[in-house]
Parts: sequence; structure tokens; C-alpha cells
Amino acid sequence: MDEKAKLIIGDKTLELPVITGTENEKAVDITKLRSATEYITLDPGFGNTGSCKSSITFVDGEKGILHYRGIPVAQMAENSTFVETSYLLIHGELPTQKQLDKFSDSFTQHAMIHEDMKNFFYGYPSTGHPMGILSAMVCSLSAYYPELTNPEPSQEEFNKIAVMLLSKVRTICAFSYKKSVGDTFVNPRPDLKYIPNFLNMMFSSPSRNYTIDQDEVNALRVLLILHADHEQNCSTSTVRMVGSSRANLFASIAAGICALWGPLHGGANQEVIEMLQQIHKDGDNIQKYVNLAKEKDSSFRLMGFGHRVYKNFDPRAKIIKEKAHTLLNKKGIKDPLLDIAVKLEEIALKDPYFVERKLYPNVDFYSGIIYRAIGIPLNMFPVMFAIGRMPGWIAHWKEMLDDPATKIGRPRQIYTGPNRRDYVPIEQRKYSLHPTENSF
Ligand code: COA
Repeated sequence: MDEKAKLIIGDKTLELPVITGTENEKAVDITKLRSATEYITLDPGFGNTGSCKSSITFVDGEKGILHYRGIPVAQMAENSTFVETSYLLIHGELPTQKQLDKFSDSFTQHAMIHEDMKNFFYGYPSTGHPMGILSAMVCSLSAYYPELTNPEPSQEEFNKIAVMLLSKVRTICAFSYKKSVGDTFVNPRPDLKYIPNFLNMMFSSPSRNYTIDQDEVNALRVLLILHADHEQNCSTSTVRMVGSSRANLFASIAAGICALWGPLHGGANQEVIEMLQQIHKDGDNIQKYVNLAKEKDSSFRLMGFGHRVYKNFDPRAKIIKEKAHTLLNKKGIKDPLLDIAVKLEEIALKDPYFVERKLYPNVDFYSGIIYRAIGIPLNMFPVMFAIGRMPGWIAHWKEMLDDPATKIGRPRQIYTGPNRRDYVPIEQRKYSLHPTENSF
């Protein structure tokens, strides 16, 4: 028998269908709620709201489970490449060798950006945050490929845009780094794979020999795979929301990059390192910062801790912590920030405040240690997250577009402002209550 939920409002009882996912997660379908009752639901931050059905990624936050198209993320991190993971997320299945070769070849074909686009980089101040530059550049791709801005692209057009975005984004990121340090742009090389190509564009220079380090390549491979998708997070929901108005894929992804930029989302990896540096500067007084994070009146939070969904552990953080130790050992690097991070985790995980609230290290807690060891500068950390998240955004945009149930995203609200009142001419206004008056 189909399960139903009953909602009683006053003397009215409404039967609501219950939807069950393939992993047995349940939802009460309230699609008809407003038309039947004139009530809406109120759920700030959408913590209890499913915005769509999706077959891309499964997360069970209570059990610390993360699957891409059914495959545990640890298996992908162990065995796969970022390009293969992108194929899986976007196309739904692991590719055959032939499919993978074709997919990889098209990355090479689309790696370069239009020569004119280089002018944009010269126009940005070198102090500009690379996330702002990345978002602007991705949106600007729409101007260079207007034939690919069809709001409902064919499968062939979509495949082309997807590969262009995946491939060009790493070139754009490397160029914005080169610009920030005043170095010459290094073009992508057709003989190099995805990650070595990125590292080469970042760190090689006409005046300097650069050797690609396989341990760095491997650490980055794992990081990018672990960041590749995470179902309806803030930036992915943004991509879907913007795309629901039939904005093209370039514009939707550019919006996702902006959403990722914030310190509570993809900007957290940068904030973690800044926090660890601050603790180090302050004599490694870890307990002081743990105490500060617990204070009700302080706005300080332990960055890299806590997650809306994971209430047990974040499976990605466990893998990244191990990889950070491996890479640093192999490179013979002694990073005091890693020691602080490990101790901070130990202290926080024994502290009742963090235990009761189920706050664990998340994906951002150890990733910055790896980026630092590779030589990637601090303000590029969120950009690395963006490169990794690209396949997830693209897969979700396409799923949203192909789903007949998709409607333009348009939440409701409960209005709490003044009731109807009349306009008062300025000479009759007795006082102003504007709270920001003095700041004009
Ligand atoms: N440090 C200290 N306290 C934290 C905390 C942190 N990192 N994260 C959450 N809390 C506390 C909150 O103060 C709140 O306490 P209260 O119940 O006494 O008011 C409680 O834990 C629940 O937090 P809340 O902000 O409601 O959870 P959320 O699901 O809305 O937020 C995050 C999730 C990720 C935004 C939040 O944990 C956070 O800000 N973490 C730091 C930023 C970060 O690492 N972001 C990357 C996420 S991948």
C-alpha cells in the first residue's frame, strides 16, 4: 500500500503522498499543499526541503556515506581519474575505454581559451580574488560561443559545452594565478593529462625548469575526485536555481562559482589555513580558539568543522587527512599547520560542545595543507574547489533541464513587514526611523 502522511490544519485533514528514494530515504510530497490549504512551509536554509529528485549523488550524513552514481567515493578516489569521474557524474555510467579516450581527447581540443580573452586578465588588478575572475571568465565564455547559449541545448551541444567548461576552467585558473604573480602565461600542452597539464600551466615558466611531481599529481587527483559532487549543496542548488530560469550553462556555472566563494562553503579551505596560521602566530594556543568557537557571543567558528548533512563524519575528510600526511612525508615537508590541525581535531572531538552538536572535520579541514605543500597560494584554494566541483554542477544542470518536473525556482515567504499604509509627503514626515541613517 502506498504510504501517506496526514497533515491536520484546523478541521481539515490533508493526505500527502510519501516519496521513497532508492536508498529508502523518505519525503512528504507537499506539491499540492498551498492550492489545497493556502498554507506554505517555512524552512530557512532548506534543511528539510527536497528541491528535486536526483540520481547523481547519494549522501547519508548520519552514516558518513557518499556515493557517485551508486559507487562509494573512496573507491573512486582509490581507482579512478578526475576525467573518468567527470564522465561518470555527467553521463551516468563509467565509460568504456573507447568512450574515455574520446572524452579525454576532447579535453585537449578545448583546453585553450580564445586569444582575445587574455585581455581580460590584463584588465584585472593583480590583487583581485581569483574566484571573482573565474566567475567573470566563465560567464564571458558565453560571449565567445554564442552558438552554445541555447537555453535548451541538444545533447551534442551540451556535450561540447561540458567538455569546454571542464577543460578551459583549469586554463583560466592557471592564467589568473600567472597574472597575479606577474608571470608569463603558459599554454596547455596536448601531451599532458588533466592534472599534470594544470600544474605545468601553473608552475612552469620560460625562465625556470619545472618537473611534474607524481605524488602531487596523485594528491590533487584524489582532492578533485572528492570535491566532484555533493548533491544539493549551496553552489549546486544555485546552479540549478539559475538554470531553472533557462539561463545558459555558462551563466549558471558562473553563479555557482560565486555561491562557492563564501567562507561557509568553498571559501572555507582558505579560512581554515588562515585560522591555523593565526593559532600558530598566537603561540599554538589551540585551546584558546576552541573556547572562542564555543562562546555564544563570539562570531568565531572553527573553520573546516561542521556540516549541514554529515552528523557522524565526513568520509572525504578522512581520506584527505591521510593523503595530507602521505604527501608531506613523501616530500619531506614538516608543516606546523598540519600538527596544529591534528591537535585541534583531537581536542574538538573530545569536547562536549562539538560532540553534542555532532561537529566533525569536513572536506575543507585538511585540503589546504595539501594545496600548500604543492605551492598553490591561499587565495587559489576556493578555485581548486571550483575546478573539482565543475562536473557535479554540469551534471545537475543537465538533470534539472531534462526533468519534466522542473519549474522555475521560486520559493515563497512569510511577510513580516508593515501592513498597508499610505504614502506620506516628505514635508509631513515627522521622524525617520531608518536604522542606517548615520552611515549614509
Ligand atoms: N564552530 C563552532 N560552532 C559551530 C560550528 C563551527 N564550525 N559549526 C556549527 N556550530 C554550532 C552553531 O553555532 C550551532 O550552535 P547552537 O545550536 O548552539 O546555536 C550548531 O553548531 C549548529 O550550527 P548551524 O550553523 O545551525 O549548522 P548549519 O548546518 O546551518 O551550518 C556549516 C553548517 C558548515 C555552515 C557550519 O557548520 C559552519 O559554519 N562551519 C564552518 C565553515 C565550514 O567549514 N564550511 C565548509 C562546509 S563543507
